[in-house]
Order: sequence, then C-alpha cells, then structure tokens
Amino acid sequence: MSEAGEVRAEDITSPDEVNLFQLFSVDLLQTPLVKVNGRVVQVVGLVAESQGPDVRVGDLCHICFRDGSHELAAEVVGFRENRVLLMPLGALQEVGPGCDVISTNHPLEVGVGDALLGRVLDGLGNPIDDKGPIVASDFYPLYALPPHPLKRKMVDTPLSVGVRVIDGMLTLGKGQRIGIFAGSGVGKSTLLGMMARYTTADVNVISLVGERGREVREFMERDLGPEGLARSVLVIATSDQPAMIRLKSAMTATAIAEYFRDQGKDVLLMMDTVTRVARAQREIGLAIGEPPATRGYTPSVFEMLPRLLERAGAGEKGSITGIYTVLVDGDDMNEPVADNVRGILDGHVVLSRRIAARNFYPAVSVLDSVSRVMPVLVSQEHRDAAGRVRDLLATYAESEDLINIGAYKPGSNVRVDWAIENMESVRAFLSQRVEDPTSFEETDRRLLALAPMPDQRPAEAAAKAS
Ligand SMILES: Nc1ncnc2c1ncn2[C@@H]1O[C@H](COP(=O)(O)OP(=O)(O)OP(=O)(O)O)[C@@H](O)[C@H]1O
Ligand SMILES: [Mg+2]
Repeated sequence: MSEAGEVRAEDITSPDEVNLFQLFSVDLLQTPLVKVNGRVVQVVGLVAESQGPDVRVGDLCHICFRDGSHELAAEVVGFRENRVLLMPLGALQEVGPGCDVISTNHPLEVGVGDALLGRVLDGLGNPIDDKGPIVASDFYPLYALPPHPLKRKMVDTPLSVGVRVIDGMLTLGKGQRIGIFAGSGVGKSTLLGMMARYTTADVNVISLVGERGREVREFMERDLGPEGLARSVLVIATSDQPAMIRLKSAMTATAIAEYFRDQGKDVLLMMDTVTRVARAQREIGLAIGEPPATRGYTPSVFEMLPRLLERAGAGEKGSITGIYTVLVDGDDMNEPVADNVRGILDGHVVLSRRIAARNFYPAVSVLDSVSRVMPVLVSQEHRDAAGRVRDLLATYAESEDLINIGAYKPGSNVRVDWAIENMESVRAFLSQRVEDPTSFEETDRRLLALAPMPDQRPAEAAAKAS
C-alpha cells in the first residue's frame, strides 16, 4: 500500500489480501459511465455550434456525419450562449444540424518518438511521405507550458549553423530564439536549408506553414537535400489547409521539438513563417467573434505568439534553439507581428532585398541584425573582430555613395581608406555559396584574420595611406 493509503496493483499478493472493490472504486468514480453526446445546431463560417457535450476549451471532439460514414475532428474554441463553438480540423462540408458531437475529454496530442526522424508529417503529425505508419513511443500535448524560467539552463554554449555570417557575426547559442526578418523571395528558405544541413545540432524540426505546395518539394529537394532530411522532422501545413491546421502545425512541430529536448538532445527548431501562424490565429479569432485590433490582428494573436515562442529554449537537459522567419513585406519592420515577435526573441537577423539584388548571398544586413546573447558565447578576440567588421561596414556604408560615383579621394580619411582596403576580404567572408559549409573553428579563424584596425596595420601601409 502506498503512503497515501491507496492500493496499487503491484502490492497485491493474494486476492484475499485486499478488498477488490476498494481497489477499483477510485477508477470507477473517475470514469464517466454515460457518454453524453452533443449535437450540432448551427454552422456559421468556419465554426460549428453545438448543444453539449460537457467540454472545456481546448478539448478534442469528433463530429459524426449523419450517415455514420466518418467523422471530423474539431477543437473546442469557445462558448456562446450555452453553445459550444467547435473549430474543425478539416473541411466543414457535410456537417449540418443534428450531427453528433463526441468529446474525447482530452486536448490534441501528437505521437512522438525517434521514428519521426527523416519523416514528413502533416499539421497534426500524421505521415504524408508514403514511408508507412509511424510507431509512436509517447504522446505529447500540442499545448505545453514553457520550461520554468528559473529551471532553464543559461544560454552559454554556441551552436554552429555552418554559415559564416551567422556563426561569425551573429553567433547563436544553444537554447536561443532568433527571428529571420525578410520580405518574400530574399532567401529565407535557402538560408534555413543551409543551416539545417550544416548545423551541429542533433535534430532539426522544421515547420513549414502556409507555403504553396510547390515550395514544399523545392525546399525538401533543393534546400534540405537527403542528408539534411535524414536528421530532420518536417511538419507541413500548406496554404490551402484550414486555418486550424496551419495554426496547429506550429504547435505540433514545437511539441516534437520538446520531445527530442526531453531526450537530452540539442534541437534546432525552424519555423517558416511565424507570420502565417499569426494570420491563421487571426482567421480563427475573427471567426469566433473576436474584435480586430492592430491592423486586423485580434488580441488572441498577441497572446498566442509569446506562448508559442517561449516554448523554445533550454530545458533542464537538452535545448531547443528556435529560428523563426518573419515576413516583413514592404520592409516594414514595424508591422505588428514583426514588432511583437522582435520583442519576444533574443535577436534578429534581417535579410535585405537591396543586398540580394546585388546577387550577394546570404543577403544578411549585418548592421541591422543582432544576436543578444552573442557576447557571452564567444571569446573576447571573436567579439572584438566582429566589432571591427561592423565598424568597417558602417564606415563603408556612410561613404558608399561617394565611393561609387568616384568622388572619394583616397587619403582624405584614414578610416574610409581602411574600410575600402578591407571591404573585399570582408565581403568574401560574409558571402557563402549554398553548397559550401564552414565549421565554427574555421569561421572563428577567418574572422580573427580580417580587418585589422588602421593603427594596427603595418607601418609602410599606414604611411602610404597618409
Ligand atoms: N544563398 C543563395 N545563393 C544563391 N542564390 C540564392 C541564395 N539564397 C537565395 N537565392 C536566390 O533567391 C531565390 C529565392 O530564395 P528563397 O526561396 O530562399 O527565398 P524565400 O525568402 O524563402 O522566398 P519566399 O518568400 O518566396 O518563400 C532563390 O530561388 C535563389 O535564386
Ligand atoms: Mg521560402
């Protein structure tokens, strides 16, 4: 018998030893003996309203078609005038008044396990890659609380992603969360693919939300490649999927990342794009009658974003390093989602259309980007060298117009001369071909060799310049 006085099955040695009724009474009291179904009474837009069953927000229900042929999963998203508001995880066609609604009495879960590696899943975690069913070793809830703030490990170890501009100038730490802010077609997917292929993380979980169907294959075959896919789990909800599935796919990917983190793994979670997750939440919010607030986004969007993004990070063991792409169309960094996400994350990488237009990739605008935890991750020499490169880029940018039209006279400013002299080697360091990984040590070595300050140059070069 346990300390609390309850009887456990393993304690029983003989049937006489215990009153069997006592053993099962607790279970019996907790089991609903009568299943009360609800019934659909109305369908408006994306939402089905039912009378009953007895549920809570977040519970998973099944809406049964009247001919009994199949059923549609739906989640309880709210209540209105004693009715349950159900948001279906599929098309509402054929659902009508009178359809039975059965509650599962638990929220949505996803099957997890090491068998997920190398697999491609839909937004709810079902395989879509014709490689057969997945045997789950556990089930994880789609909504989980972030790790306790005081129990999180500090972000103090760098995570290499094999891309020089990131590892060198915007070093990421295990458990850090960073945003990639960019307009469309500036190279987000290509950069994510490079990082997934070349990172030293143990596992990648990649969530593609609201992409066109064509882009998914492109990403898998061109950007990720077979070697990237082998240690990745892909969760995909294309733009034609219902808003509920697009939203859930972000939670599914995060739950899968949490599973691997709980196994002690260093996970790289990439979400492309979190803007489309926010838009899916907006669609749902508007459908259940939330008022539109900032630029049409409903309040629940700004409640959901921190809840989702805070789930990445270091746990007691293992870590989830989160990389979230954010669409900033028209390069409007103050767009509400971009603004909100930037405030939640520990850094941002800005991809610039102007840089991409010069065929310079990855098109990272170093001067607009920051990794807030970088200072504690790298050596003093690395920090100093990265600082010098920033200084050089800023100095060059200030005089770029003059330089380009040939109006700058060499020798008129020692710092501008220094920037011009070193610009080519800095450019060679910052640009990188897709099929060309660089280890963290190599990046560190090359960075330290870059751009000595004007006063550190050999005497004859300084004399020539003056
Ligand atoms: N590292 C790179 N090297 C060479 N070309 C690149 C690189 N990154 C991006 N490009 C070019 O830019 C195009 C768009 O890149 P990508 O699909 O990665 O952008 P995206 O931001 O994900 O676009 P979308 O917003 O449509 O999803 C690519 O087809 C390619 O031509
Ligand atoms: Mg893309």
